[in-house]
Amino acid sequence: MTEDSLKTKKPRIAVYPGTFDPMTRGHLDIVTRAEALCDHLVIGVASNEDKHPLFSLEERLEIVQEEIETLNLKTQVWVKPFTGLLVNFAYDEKADFVVRGLRAVSDFEYEFQMAGMNARLSPSVETVFLIASDRCQFISSTLIKEITELGGDVSQFVSKNLERRLKNKLRHLP
Ligand code: COA
Repeated sequence: MTEDSLKTKKPRIAVYPGTFDPMTRGHLDIVTRAEALCDHLVIGVASNEDKHPLFSLEERLEIVQEEIETLNLKTQVWVKPFTGLLVNFAYDEKADFVVRGLRAVSDFEYEFQMAGMNARLSPSVETVFLIASDRCQFISSTLIKEITELGGDVSQFVSKNLERRLKNKLRHLP
């Protein structure tokens, strides 16, 4: 490879999609590790209204932005909303690959199916799986919401800022 071709090398773009309802330390672990694999990382926040998220899309975007600002990232990271198919979002973002975190065997079947379907829909988009770090293996957004609602301590799973937001949100629910 010549010096010129190195200079003109296309930046590697990765998309990390999720509902992020809300973003946990587990997601942040994936963001930190994904950034080492690309030049630009796009965090795609899916509207996923069918999942009836606790936080609105605007709130989730705000939370993701706040959370990643606490990380010492070297790569350019954008936070963007998306609706519709992930492969279309990845295409629009000119992504080279999609990143997903894998926690346990139970994640595998769903992720395997999704990666397979996405590969059929858009063969040019590769899915890269990162195994969740051991301290993040059991983190789940659903369980964090449940523990907060029942008055438990979630400080080891989410940031202080998010803990406050969760308590506020759940306190004001009917
Ligand atoms: N550490 C800890 N927890 C993690 C984690 C990690 N590394 N990775 C995922 N999780 C958890 C989350 O906490 C969340 O927990 P919950 O199930 O208790 O809520 C769960 O895994 C999944 O959440 P998230 O990572 O936000 O992703 P998702 O599965 O909700 O997102 C999309 C799925 C957005 C990728 C998918 O819905 C999608 O592609 N939508 C677009 C429509 C589309 O293209 N459909 C066709 C697909 S073939």
